[in-house]
Amino acid sequence: MDMRGKTVLVTGSTDGVGRYVASELAGQGAAVLIHGRDASRAKTLIDEIKAKGHAGPIFYQADLSSLAGARQLAEAVKADHKKLDVFVSNAGIGSQNSGPQRQESADGYELRFAVNYLSGFLLAHLLLPLIRAAAPARIVNVASLGQHPIDFDDVMITKNYSGSRAYSQSKLSQIMFTIDLAHELKGTGVTVNSLHPATYMNTTMVRAGGITPISTVEQGGAAILHLVEGDDVANKSGLFFNGMNEMKANAQAYDEAARKRLRALSLKLTGLSA
Ligand SMILES: NC(=O)c1ccc[n+]([C@@H]2O[C@H](COP(=O)([O-])OP(=O)(O)OC[C@H]3O[C@@H](n4cnc5c(N)ncnc54)[C@H](OP(=O)(O)O)[C@@H]3O)[C@@H](O)[C@H]2O)c1
Repeated sequence: MDMRGKTVLVTGSTDGVGRYVASELAGQGAAVLIHGRDASRAKTLIDEIKAKGHAGPIFYQADLSSLAGARQLAEAVKADHKKLDVFVSNAGIGSQNSGPQRQESADGYELRFAVNYLSGFLLAHLLLPLIRAAAPARIVNVASLGQHPIDFDDVMITKNYSGSRAYSQSKLSQIMFTIDLAHELKGTGVTVNSLHPATYMNTTMVRAGGITPISTVEQGGAAILHLVEGDDVANKSGLFFNGMNEMKANAQAYDEAARKRLRALSLKLTGLSA
């Protein structure tokens, strides 16, 4: 895809791999909408992009640890734009951000499930009219190889909590949502795929986990950019990629009943079913 003039929203682009992807897309002439929580980090990125002679991205500030924050972000984007060619749902927290203990979102949901999955689920639905209006258009959900099946009797992980289980459950949820949404969008010209960008990139969330990075944001960024603009994936949808290559996700992703259950729960938790 030629990215010149294309409007692209990358959530979580004030840091890490999202920052790299936003910068690359701006360099290719896309109108990039960057998002994060911190206005000063956004300004530094905007200045950096402008200094290279590219159009400065627009910054949208929103905290996705509350559904109100996700709604506010969607409203702000909708107020400014009539179409969205690409939505990269990338914002996230790792297994250890702000400590190993179980935490809850503003809405009282397990925090990793809320930030990494529910906010992206809600954003995708609220932005869908803009994305459909841009067809052919793409949604890219940045998930992970870290995947843990959902225990539907304890989705908020009140028992046997670990940050790694919570992170991996949220990432599998994104993948299950991707498959589901692809079915829904069949024939609309909008594709949706998910991926593991790269393993232990040198980013804030990896460092917060005390893990020694083994890959770079350039490597993970290339995998995300492949799904954003690659011609070879233009007609692929509902798939999971490990880096550049398609692969199978955890078995629960292909369990239709589990996906249906997750979808019903997500619609309820986000208030979309009301
Ligand atoms: N790093 C890896 O090796 C790896 C591997 C597999 C998958 N991934 C996935 O890649 C994506 C990006 O991760 P990264 O490694 O680049 O992480 P990162 O450097 O920690 O960046 C995370 C981004 O998400 C934003 N964010 C975090 N919490 C937020 C909240 N409550 N509300 C709004 N924005 C929030 C951050 O904004 P602020 O600037 O405001 O903090 C930041 O822009 C994540 O979905 C992650 O699960 C990463």
